[in-house]
Amino acid sequence: MSAVVRDPSVARSVALFRAFRHEQTEPERCYALLACDAARQIERYEPLRGRLVVDVGGGSGCFTAEFRRRGARCYLFEPDVRELTAHGPPPAGAVLADGCLLPLADGAADVCFSSNVLEHVADPRTFLSEMVRVTRPGGLLYVAFTNWLSPWGGHETSPWHYLGADRARARYRRRTGRPAKHTVGENLFPLHIGPTLRQVRALPGVTVVTARSRYAPFLAEAVVRVPGVREFATWNLLLILRRSPYDGSRSAAPATTPAAAG
Ligand SMILES: C[S@@+](CC[C@H](N)C(=O)[O-])C[C@H]1O[C@@H](n2cnc3c(N)ncnc32)[C@H](O)[C@@H]1O
Repeated sequence: MSAVVRDPSVARSVALFRAFRHEQTEPERCYALLACDAARQIERYEPLRGRLVVDVGGGSGCFTAEFRRRGARCYLFEPDVRELTAHGPPPAGAVLADGCLLPLADGAADVCFSSNVLEHVADPRTFLSEMVRVTRPGGLLYVAFTNWLSPWGGHETSPWHYLGADRARARYRRRTGRPAKHTVGENLFPLHIGPTLRQVRALPGVTVVTARSRYAPFLAEAVVRVPGVREFATWNLLLILRRSPYDGSRSAAPATTPAAAG
């Protein structure tokens, strides 16, 4: 996918924004571009070729497909069978599993990945700890999510979520004649950048490599450093984390095929 360019840059942000605008009509194109972009972001820190990658909450598998295209051994874990089969048959080796209780040995993955899942999880702290547990010492974690006060925080009800989740949901139903996919407190949870950063920095044996706006064309890291402003201006927080190489707090298994996959 050649349209993905230097990150961050105006051209890249414009390309991603254009793809998002057609997400409903051309989801494959939109997610293929996003997956290519995420893969490139990971490869800045860790090669994908030959690595064992775990895609947690991977939906129908567009990221998994891209990681495999780049030579990774990637396994998808997804708790919702409707998401898994939304765009056709599930990817080979997909596992029905909750990200808070992954059927994987400690330290099984070289790269643990989750894109736009954290805000859908009732217990993000446990979800993050579980991602750390399954990553090998020295391995990489990629976590991106849309925070609640982002202009896209209410997902399909945005930007009316700024007036309250119930009001936004009622408006969506009035306008479209169908219920919104997401209900706050059920499958969408208001996550904020400040508290999430504090939670991540408190994770034992983990270093924050970068905390940045995932899509911003410039000032991508700077904006995340400004309390208050970051809640509105980040849009989507990208965390690249590294599990400490000599973390004795958890036992580490060699990076082999996950027991439950395949
Ligand atoms: C917005 S979709 C993102 C899918 C995919 N990662 C992507 O970016 O295209 C959110 C996904 O998170 C999944 N999810 C929700 N709660 C989860 C949990 N506790 N563990 C793992 N995945 C979960 C949902 O089933 C859904 O597939």
